[in-house]
Amino acid sequence: MSRPKRMLVENVGWAAEIAASDPDFFETLAQGQSPTVLWIGCSDSRVPAETITHSKPGDLFVHRNIANLFSDTDDNMMSVLEYAVRVLKVDDVIVCGHYGCGGVRASLLPLSDALPHVNRRIAPLYALAREHSGELDVIGTMDSRIDRLAELSVLEQVSALRDTPIVRDAERPPRVHGWIFGLRDGRIKVLSSGDPADAETGGAPAGSSNAAAKAAEPAPGAAQRVIEAISR
Ligand code: CO
Repeated sequence: MSRPKRMLVENVGWAAEIAASDPDFFETLAQGQSPTVLWIGCSDSRVPAETITHSKPGDLFVHRNIANLFSDTDDNMMSVLEYAVRVLKVDDVIVCGHYGCGGVRASLLPLSDALPHVNRRIAPLYALAREHSGELDVIGTMDSRIDRLAELSVLEQVSALRDTPIVRDAERPPRVHGWIFGLRDGRIKVLSSGDPADAETGGAPAGSSNAAAKAAEPAPGAAQRVIEAISR
């Protein structure tokens, strides 16, 4: 069976399962959306926002692009942000990058003639890598350089988002968070909490921030699920 056919079959099963466990679910879903979170993530297939955070339809307003880059000249990005802040009035904006990001990797390699659109998109990452070349150049391995640049980029997007008039001048400005997802363990690390005063603390190299590690502890619900799963 082709993948799209398989997806349609799975969809029938999924809809039936949800309806069986919560008969009002789709009726409620059809009445409208009131997500409290805008998620800005990478298009990478391995970082699906809903799956990795146990979120349900209706929970997250989502924008994904290559390397989770924010640009105020991108109408796609800006229309999503504008709608999220001014209409949905989200409480939180989360930029979530990931380690091992292909878009970040590409920005540390020679340009590919076959990918002019990608090249244009990731140009800010080239600039960021140059800006931090002193730190990046002394990192031993390419993989570690990519991971550090991915962290620096998340912090850069968070800062740019906080400075944009849509966020800054909102009646109730949303908190802007910087997170990064680890493909090796499935865990999210907090680089910058929603409090702008904490923004400076997120710049520490991977694994060296106690505050970030503490903030990345599972939420009570998730912890409870983990406890239930391992005690079965
Ligand atoms: Co990526």
